[in-house]
Parts: sequence; structure tokens; C-alpha cells
Amino acid sequence: MSVPFIDLKRFEDGFIDSWMEKVRDLSENTRFIGGPEIEAIESTLRDYCGVKHAIGCANGTDALQLALRGAGVERGDIVLVPDLTFWATFEAVVNVGADPVTVDVSAEDLQLDFDRFKEACEKYKPKAAFIVHLYGWGSGRLEEFRKYALEQNIVLIEDGAQAFGVQKDGQSIYANAQISTISFYPAKVFGAAGDAGAVLTSDDEFASRIRSLENHGRTTHYSYGLVGWNSRMDSFQAAFLNLSFPHLEARLKSRRAVANQYREKLANLPIRVVNAPAGYLENGYLNVLIVDEARRPDLEKSMKEKGIGCGIVYPGPMSQQDASPKFLKGKVGGENAERICKSVLNLPLFPYMRSEEVDEVVDAVKAFYG
Ligand SMILES: Cc1ncc(COP(=O)(O)O)c(C=O)c1O
Repeated sequence: MSVPFIDLKRFEDGFIDSWMEKVRDLSENTRFIGGPEIEAIESTLRDYCGVKHAIGCANGTDALQLALRGAGVERGDIVLVPDLTFWATFEAVVNVGADPVTVDVSAEDLQLDFDRFKEACEKYKPKAAFIVHLYGWGSGRLEEFRKYALEQNIVLIEDGAQAFGVQKDGQSIYANAQISTISFYPAKVFGAAGDAGAVLTSDDEFASRIRSLENHGRTTHYSYGLVGWNSRMDSFQAAFLNLSFPHLEARLKSRRAVANQYREKLANLPIRVVNAPAGYLENGYLNVLIVDEARRPDLEKSMKEKGIGCGIVYPGPMSQQDASPKFLKGKVGGENAERICKSVLNLPLFPYMRSEEVDEVVDAVKAFYG
């Protein structure tokens, strides 16, 4: 049996029918921009994420740029970026005219390294810093990051593109952030039917700037207090998310169960199935294996031959991308990021994955290690 790396077509019974009805209704009523669907998803996000303001926008990359601009980051400011993340985090800093400095990640939880972060803050005096909650959990030292950033007057922006549904000490991971962002890219845990994103904050001032920036910097329809751009969330995407939300818990439960099965069933092999740090309830976004770098190509090949899809998230650090040198203002460490990129492998994980599919993947990994 072949097993895809990801299969997003496993919608709940009746879901596609209700989506078709919704599309018809929105189209017949030409409810294309703004309106009740946007209001409903923003209200759901506020409640579910435990924040005062949720501002829908066009995608998770725009959410990062809105967060930076909303926090007052300007041309020439330094912004710290983890060396291990998706390119959008680095790109957002450059696109607002600021200067990125990459900072190494921890070999334990694979998230931004706190000691390296402090070193970078002392050396570069950044205006803001990104911490990225990767893979389905966050840093084991998240509270220390938050406390230190507040003390040093650094805006800590939490890129939570991959973190929807993650809980820290029983609360949404987004709840105590200064500013955080979400991506609703279809392959994310809470995916839309296209691109969409959101910025979350409990700070009124940040929120009002971000709300204005995502709609051309408007103060009224034809007057402008800021130079923003059009990053409004599309009403169809909001409607799709509103229809999906009642299924979120079931999808999370299914993802978490698969993530745990891999941990149990692959426990005694010469590989590491990475765990979320203590205090976290992961969302099951990705399975993350750390394997022997020299054997990774053969493992990947043997899985492929059996029809099993694998991922490498991510194959290279930010500081080593072809486009980086022109913009990189500095680099603090990076050895861990580099090592992780060379030894990471991701097994299939998606909602409603069947147990026989998980077993097929597990058997293939076990067969490789003999
Ligand atoms: C960590 C991270 N940041 C930012 C993004 C950008 O989100 P989007 O694709 O919605 O622009 C993504 C996902 O694609 C991501 O994984």
C-alpha cells in the first residue's frame, strides 16, 4: 500500500456539500469582501486563541509583515530571525526594509535557542525578534523569551503559522504573546481553501495600526493615515474556515494520535522521534525524525521505493539561502540549524490517516533499520 506524505482530501461526511451551498449563497448575495463571515472568524479566533484582537489578512506571510509594521519596525531596524524556519520569516523582515540577523536554534526542541537569542540581543540591539513555533510545538523556554524581550523593550513577534491548536500549560500558545501570526495555508492544521492568515494581539495600539495597514492604511474609505496595502482576508476563505472550525478538535485529535503512534512504535530504533517539550500539547502538524545524516538519503530512497512519501522540513538554514548574503546583517551561531537540516526527515502525518497506513510507514522504517 502506498502512503502519501499528505492527503488533504479526507473531509468529513457532508463537508463538501455544505461548502458548495455556502459558495452559492455568498455568490448569489455577492458577499465577496468583508461582512459577517470575516466578523465570525475573527470572533472565533479571539475566543479560541485567548486574545483581545484578531485581524484577518491575506496570508501568513502578510501577517508577518503586518506584525512588523504594526509594531513600528522601520527601514534599518534590526530584527532577529531563527536560522531554522520557513523562508517567509526572513523575507518579511527584508520586505519591510529592516535588516535580518539569524540566530541558531536549540538541538533539544529545534526552536530558537534562548542563550543565543540573548547573545544576539546584546550584540545587535534589535528593535524586534521573531520566534517561530515550528513543527507543532514551541520552545521549552518560551516564558523566558517573553520576559526577557519585555525587559529589553524588544517586540517579540511569534510566528505561529504552524501552531494552531498548540497549547502551553493548558492555554493557547498565542494567548500571552505580544503579537503572533497564523497561516491558514491549506496544508496547515486549520487550513483554508486557498491563502489566508491572521495577526493576533491583546495590545490595542498594535491592533489598530495592523487593522488599518491591512486595508490600505485607511482611516475612512477615502482617507489614509498610513501607507499600507490590500491584505484583506477573502470572504470565501473566512467562510471555509467558519465551516471547518467545528471539525477542528476531531482533526487535531487524529493528528495527535498519529504523532504519538510514531513515537511509541519507533521508540527502539537508532533514530530520534522529536517530542514537544514539557508543558505542551502539540497539534500534530508534523512528524519530525532526526536520523543519521549519512543514512538519510538511503532511508528516503527505501521509503520512496515502497511508495511512502517523506518530507525534509527544512533542507537548509535561512543564512545559507542564495538570496541571504545581500540582506543578512549578522549571524549568531547556526551549527545546530545546519546539523538539523542535514538530518531531519518527516513521515506522513495528516488528519484521518488510517492505522494501517501508519503501520505501513512504521514497518518500512523498521525494515530499513533491519
Ligand atoms: C513558519 C511559517 N511562517 C510563515 C508561513 C507563511 O504562511 P503563508 O504560506 O500563509 O504565507 C508559513 C507557511 O507557509 C510557515 O510555515
